[in-house]
Amino acid sequence: MRIVRDLPTLRAETGKLGPIALVPTMGALHEGHISLVRAARREAAAMGGAVAASIFVNPLQFGPNEDLSRYPRDEEGDLRALEAAGCDLAWLPSVGVMYPPGRATVIDVAGPSEGWEGTARPGHFRGVATVCAKLFLQTGARVALFGEKDWQQLQVVRRMASDLDMPLRILGCPTVREADGLAMSSRNRFLAPEERAKAPLVFEALTQVAATLRDGRMAEPVLAEARARLAAAGFAVDYLALVEAETLRPIMRGPGRLVIAARLGSVRLLDNIAAA
Ligand code: PAJ
Repeated sequence: MRIVRDLPTLRAETGKLGPIALVPTMGALHEGHISLVRAARREAAAMGGAVAASIFVNPLQFGPNEDLSRYPRDEEGDLRALEAAGCDLAWLPSVGVMYPPGRATVIDVAGPSEGWEGTARPGHFRGVATVCAKLFLQTGARVALFGEKDWQQLQVVRRMASDLDMPLRILGCPTVREADGLAMSSRNRFLAPEERAKAPLVFEALTQVAATLRDGRMAEPVLAEARARLAAAGFAVDYLALVEAETLRPIMRGPGRLVIAARLGSVRLLDNIAAA
């Protein structure tokens, strides 16, 4: 696996590798990320190309009061995991390489970035869209793989790629979960043992709501009850909503996507599932 930290080398290396399947990450890799690398392997094989993964903790997508400085970092472990999963190239730009002085361009996606994470984290999706556009252009990727875990992010990136006629496919991949249902996340390591024990209630609430909504009933009373149950269990629920899958607009009944953000102590848990 080639480890690349500057743009001229990246251009030279990707030029030799053929069509690229790209997995953008912020590192601290877990089985969720690795599942994307494996899916990228299949895409690369089908194109006769190669897999690239980026590791870049993107300051532009963190708010002033967010956890940028304490975001987990483990470059050595990440590189080992990428290599073992069959990644051909690891792209590790520094902040200076990604954002040289004088930069003045950002990408602002309206529509799916409004509401939910967009409201809880002002400017977050501007940072995500900007860095993803740069990663796509830097690597010349033919396909980029994203987890459904971050459903709203996936829709924002899809919208951007489509609106700007970017010459690549955006591929969404299923959420990888712990045995008890908790969606894997780099931030789960910050859960205290008693919080970790409660955390699967988030996925449980989603599956219960989805099952109840299967008969096409009005969502709001069911959502309200689930919010109350989670609050009683000690969660601070930022939102639990039924939304149109692609636009993220709230809807009154399914089919759609159930999206949730709930805090346990200092850890924000995000999850979502389909609601038929
Ligand atoms: P990060 O949180 O590192 O996630 C990288 C990719 O892994 C994202 O596409 C995310 O949805 C996916 N992922 C995370 N947990 C997952 C899980 N349990 N199952 C499946 N996929 C999972 O998301 C980001 O980084 C950044 O915003 C980024 C897109 C890299 C831009 O900076």
